[in-house]
Amino acid sequence: MAQPPEVAEDPLLTSFEDTIRRNDRIEPRDWMPDAYRRTLVRQVAQHAHSEIIGMQPEGHWIGRAPSLRRKAILLAKVQDEAGHGLYLYSACETLGVARADLMRKLIDGRQKYSSIFNYPALTYADVGTIGWLVDGAAICNQVPLCRTSYGPYGRAMIRICKEESFHQRQGYELLATMMRGTDEQRAMVQESVDRFWWPSLMMFGPPDAESPNTAQSMAWNIKRNTNDDLRQRFVDMTVPQAEALGVTPPDPDLRWNEERGSYDFGEPDWAEFKAVLRGDGPRNAQRLAHRRRAWEEGAWVRDAAMAFARRGPRPEEDGR
Ligand SMILES: [Fe+2]
Ligand SMILES: [Fe+2]
Repeated sequence: MAQPPEVAEDPLLTSFEDTIRRNDRIEPRDWMPDAYRRTLVRQVAQHAHSEIIGMQPEGHWIGRAPSLRRKAILLAKVQDEAGHGLYLYSACETLGVARADLMRKLIDGRQKYSSIFNYPALTYADVGTIGWLVDGAAICNQVPLCRTSYGPYGRAMIRICKEESFHQRQGYELLATMMRGTDEQRAMVQESVDRFWWPSLMMFGPPDAESPNTAQSMAWNIKRNTNDDLRQRFVDMTVPQAEALGVTPPDPDLRWNEERGSYDFGEPDWAEFKAVLRGDGPRNAQRLAHRRRAWEEGAWVRDAAMAFARRGPRPEEDGR
């Protein structure tokens, strides 16, 4: 029977949904529902902001690295994070938003970044722990995003993930070196893991039951796994690495569950998570103030670059 005209399907919406069903990519010039675009802008912007705010806790240690080798590694790692921010801001711009607008929203506190970067890096062991646990959690989150439905986001993630695995290895290697050192160094690593373990588990977001956007994001193939699923994967991947390192995650409920073939683990302190998201974490104010200052002090560079671009090439700079 023919459909009555009042419920006739919108051909644009049908073609969008077909693309998603086929597991194909949506590209910038394709039609997309407004809510899909808004969800992506929010997620990709938040991701981009996390990359550049994430430069701060580790950047603090570049001038204090214990050797030239460690300094070179850390410098390369922090520089990679700036690059990740740039890929992601560019991906976000293909959705029709201006980068200056995103930056304004970040420094006004209207867009978020990952709450993990509101925790301080207090010792050089934290450089290792951040690489191992924070970049490790980022990898668990980001590998499935290589198959996300929005083309520019998925392609940015492929390159980012390759660099993140270098980040995780350098962190693990630093910690392994310290664990072969003195008792004091071993204690420093354990103390660092004690501080970063729970905030790393919080990086996957609230429990599924309290994550209202997950179902829609999964229906659109933006998200490929739920928060709890990714958190479990991270714990299963990380616990054997902790054993190999010789550190103990600060969770008395952590044990292997033979039946599930996975680790059982305790509940993160969700009240702390919400407090940090609200802006009451140990370094929220400092992170934003630093970002705001960098944006304001960099205004002349942006102005000069724009003036140079408007002027166009001069004859003597042409025809090389
Ligand atoms: Fe990154
Ligand atoms: Fe990273």
